[in-house]
Amino acid sequence: MAKQLLGSALVGCGSATPKQSLTNAQLGQRVDTNDSWIRSRTGIASRCVLGSDESLVELSHMASAKALKMAGWEPGSVDLIVMATSTPDDLFGSAPQVQSLLGANNAFAFDLTAACSGFLFALVTATQFLKSGSIKRALVIGADQLSRWVDWDDRRTCVLFGDGAGAVALEAVDQKDEGLIDFSLKSDGSRGDSLQLRQVIKHLPLVDGTTHQQGGFTSIEMNGQEVYKFAVREVPSVLAELLKRNNVIAEELDWLLLHQANQRILDAVADRFQVPHHKVLTNLQSYGNTSAATIPLMLDEAVRDGRVKPGDLIATSGFGAGLSWGAALINWHGPS
Ligand code: COA
Repeated sequence: MAKQLLGSALVGCGSATPKQSLTNAQLGQRVDTNDSWIRSRTGIASRCVLGSDESLVELSHMASAKALKMAGWEPGSVDLIVMATSTPDDLFGSAPQVQSLLGANNAFAFDLTAACSGFLFALVTATQFLKSGSIKRALVIGADQLSRWVDWDDRRTCVLFGDGAGAVALEAVDQKDEGLIDFSLKSDGSRGDSLQLRQVIKHLPLVDGTTHQQGGFTSIEMNGQEVYKFAVREVPSVLAELLKRNNVIAEELDWLLLHQANQRILDAVADRFQVPHHKVLTNLQSYGNTSAATIPLMLDEAVRDGRVKPGDLIATSGFGAGLSWGAALINWHGPS
């Protein structure tokens, strides 16, 4: 007999950012830039950067512990941890280290990579486990440390990014209480070279007649204008598809929660749907683009300061390297 189809509710959230905050003026000490250029082109005023006594796993642990506390869960009750990150502390995966620090001993844990769309892809992935009835509780983390991979002497990219972590607790519920109402995820690898973190390969002799590859990665390389055009074309398109499919008109949305890449992109998408700017959640002025962390970091801030309330309808969209992008319609449930 087929298992009953369930829904997944967002019942808790948490976030954490590094202790060090770096202003635009401080960046001007390193590269030829200034506060007014960065603010007018991006909306960013400062960003947080991991210091020598911090790690992404620790940030993710802090964010997750807060999400568990809000949800009222014991760590041992978590079945699954999905950690969206492109910049793990360990290439074999950082999620198991977070599981260990949390004491979530009954959870299986893995990393998922979809760059700045990672949190959205992970939210959808975890929800499939919940809907299938195979697990009851999942923790979805979005966390990145792009500061480790940015070229701090390249003013075209280094001003944009920051580090952070956010987490959401998801619980299996009756289908009528579904929190992830619908989603659409997209990828286009043919355009991937407009934003990438490529490997550098050396071919070295192994034994007679054979070679092996060795190497690491370059710094982040980006064609800013191509990425900007991609975002302002694809994000409205995928959001429009989602709203239409669900018979939702933009006026019915309580919040627009977009990946915090650039204020001009947020404004362009909001204008396209005529969503008033007070309904557009934004905190990128303080954190910059924290990649997979931006959406849960923003959600956590807005839930904790009382803007996002139980039952609120949120349209969210992630977009970035891959290229990958997508959108989801979400109902914030909050703790029971
Ligand atoms: N400070 C001062 N000047 C800068 C600068 C900086 N940090 N970065 C670039 N410039 C200069 C350039 O060198 C160029 O000077 P030039 O005309 O003398 O050559 C000038 O500013 C314009 O550069 P350009 O790249 O055309 O700027 P832009 O208006 O496209 O803005 C971005 C650059 C990156 C802000 C913009 O393209 C963007 O937001 N793209 C999307 C990026 C993004 O969100 N990526 C992540 C997606 S997940």
